[in-house]
Amino acid sequence: MIVLGIETSCDETSVAVLDGDGRVRANVVSSQMQSHAQYGGVVPEVAARAHLENLPVVLEDALGKAGVALEDVSLVAATAGPGLIGALLVGLSAGKALAFARDIPLVGVNHLEGHLFSAFLRGGGEAPLAVTYPFHGLVVSGGHAELVRVEDGTIVPIARTRDDAPGEAFDKIARRAGLGYPGGPIVDRIAARGRADRHPFAIGRVHDGTRDFSFSGLKTAMLRELEKRGIDGSPLDPDALPADLVDLLASFQHAIVAALLDRVESVHRDEGMAAIALSGGVAANSELRTALAAWGLRQRVPVLLPERTFTTDNAAMIAWAGLLRFRREGPRDPALAPARSRWPLGT
Ligand code: KG4
Ligand code: ZN
Repeated sequence: MIVLGIETSCDETSVAVLDGDGRVRANVVSSQMQSHAQYGGVVPEVAARAHLENLPVVLEDALGKAGVALEDVSLVAATAGPGLIGALLVGLSAGKALAFARDIPLVGVNHLEGHLFSAFLRGGGEAPLAVTYPFHGLVVSGGHAELVRVEDGTIVPIARTRDDAPGEAFDKIARRAGLGYPGGPIVDRIAARGRADRHPFAIGRVHDGTRDFSFSGLKTAMLRELEKRGIDGSPLDPDALPADLVDLLASFQHAIVAALLDRVESVHRDEGMAAIALSGGVAANSELRTALAAWGLRQRVPVLLPERTFTTDNAAMIAWAGLLRFRREGPRDPALAPARSRWPLGT
C-alpha cells in the first residue's frame, strides 16, 4: 500500500508518501514563510495562491523522492480542516481529483489529528512507534493548544485555549519586539541564554471549572514589559540584545511551558496518564521538550516527543493520521470530507 498525504491548511505546502506500515518514504515541505514574513503573519489570499503554484511542484518532487508513480498510490489523505478555507480547498480538491481519477479512497484528515499522531512517526525510513491506547495528547501550535485523551478510535477533549495559542503568543511577542517571524524558534534560541527567574509571570487561568488554557493575559503582561522598555517593533538583532530583554524573553517562554505542564500535571493527578504525546509547531521548543521529558521521568509516564521535522506542518503526519483512520473505518464517501475552517478535535 502507498499513501499520498497532502497538507495545505496554512502556510506550508506539503506532500508526503508513506508505505502501508507508516514508513515515511518522502515528506516534502515548501514553506511560504518568505511571502508572509513582510506582513508579520500569514495572509490568507497570498497563502491560497502560493499553494496553487507550489502544489504541482511539491507533488512531483515527493513522488520522485519516494520512487513511486501516481499509479502506485492506493490511498489519498488530505487535510480538510481546520485552517484557512481558501488554502484548504487547494490541497483537498487536488486530493479528491486524484482519488476520483484513479478510483481510490480519500480520507479528509483533521489537521490537529495529524499533529496528535505525529509523535509516533519516525524519520530515516523507519517504522512508526506502535500506537497503544489510551494515551494523552498535547497539541500546541500557532493556532491551537489542546489537551486530549485518545481512546481506541475516539478523541476526548480535556482542555483547549480560550484565547491565544502558545505559538501565536510567541509570534506576536517576537513581532512586537522586532525579532522577526515566526517568533517561536527565535525566542527559543534567545531564551536558551537567559535567566527565566528574573521576571516571574503568573499562570493564566479561566475561572469556570474547566481546565482550559489562557495565554492572552501573559501576552498582555509581556507587551506591557516591552512597552516599558521603549520597544516598539523596530528591528532588533536577536544576537545583540540587552541582558534584561534576554531574561524577559526567557521568563515569557518559561511561563508558557509552566502553564502547559501545570495542566498536564493536574490531568495526570485526576485521571492518570498511560503516556503523553507532544505535538504541533511549539513541540519543537527546547524548554518544553526538556521539561515534559523530565516530568515524565519523575512521574513514570512515558513521553513521546515528535522528531523536529514532524513538529511544524507537514504532510507525513496527515498521511499517517489518514492511514490510521482508514484502517479503523475503511473507505468513506469523499463527499463526507468538505473543507472546514473550524473543526474541533473529537467531532
Ligand atoms: O503546527 P504549526 O506549524 O502551524 C500551525 O498549525 O499553527 O505551528 C507553527 C507555530 C508558530 O507559531 C511558531 O512560532 C511555533 O509553531 N514554533 C515554535 C518553535 N518552532 C515553531 N514555538 C516555540 N518554540 C519553537 N522552537
Ligand atoms: Zn499545524
